[in-house]
Amino acid sequence: MQYQPATAVANPNIAFIKYWGNCDPDARVPANGSISMNLGGLESRTSVEFDPSLDADTLELGGETALQPARERVSQFLDHIRRMAGIEAHARVKSANNFPMGVGIASSASAFAALALAASRAAGQDLEEIELSRLARLGSGSACRSVPAGFVEWVVEGCGENSAAISIAGPEHWDLIDLVAIVSQEHKPVGSTEGHTLAYTSPLQVGRVADAPRRLDLCRGAILERDFDSLAMIMELDSNMMHGVMLTSSPALIYWLPETLTLMREVVRWRSAGLPVCYTIDAGPNVHVITLNEYADQVQARLRELPGVLDVLAARPGGAAQMVEIER
Ligand code: DP6
Repeated sequence: MQYQPATAVANPNIAFIKYWGNCDPDARVPANGSISMNLGGLESRTSVEFDPSLDADTLELGGETALQPARERVSQFLDHIRRMAGIEAHARVKSANNFPMGVGIASSASAFAALALAASRAAGQDLEEIELSRLARLGSGSACRSVPAGFVEWVVEGCGENSAAISIAGPEHWDLIDLVAIVSQEHKPVGSTEGHTLAYTSPLQVGRVADAPRRLDLCRGAILERDFDSLAMIMELDSNMMHGVMLTSSPALIYWLPETLTLMREVVRWRSAGLPVCYTIDAGPNVHVITLNEYADQVQARLRELPGVLDVLAARPGGAAQMVEIER
């Protein structure tokens, strides 16, 4: 059988309401729903070609042969697609990001969203967006949120395997911008997948999960009504709650650096003085500073003046994962 190669692109995303802890770790069904914004302009580009003459899957990341753990994770993901399409061929996978790794932007989200789209097409499957989101979730939980466009909710009902993400508003709905203040480029000591397994060792996780529907309602409402103050309040609370769980896990996960805390305090101070700005932090020390696009230059200039800020990346709301013309 002859397989056609396929190439897809997807944006990473920043969660305003976070995914932390799984109810079914193998199927990456999360303990709570989450809401995010795709990060336009930043992307993973992934090409896949199934080839019956290959003895094993191959994986190239940023032009270099990937290490065994990454190859293994991709192969296990491709197994889902092989089962779905009823094929046995191995695949040649090439992926590259246009943004630096290890800067507090989860590249696994954009990488697995692009891989889900490219690999399913290369295997002859034309999936609906919701099916694609569900598939991407199996590679990396947050990847399911990089499939639909703009502002996205990962909907969770019970511990069901159907959990997937849907767009709640398109990228043009609200002119927000994420200014990522980089304070460290070092690789994080404990990755998200391992971190999720520790969530329930914190006595705070049960309370965090129980309160999640309330935070999701507030966040969804703030986005739909373009209410920046309400978004700021719920986004910072949710980030602080996730880091509260991380700090009280066994062993404790301390992702912050002194510069992280300085940024958090400065952002809150600027907002008290009337600037529409708020922060959220993932599993790392870098701080995502969210503001309205018209304030972007001012906020970016202030961030660059702070001690310890090495760089600032900017991203506006991004679109859905999509296919691109095959380069020959
Ligand atoms: C802190 O999606 O990277 O960024 O499912 O194991 O791949 P895996 O984890 P991942 O976890 C993301 C954690 C987070 C919060 C979020 O993006 O919701």
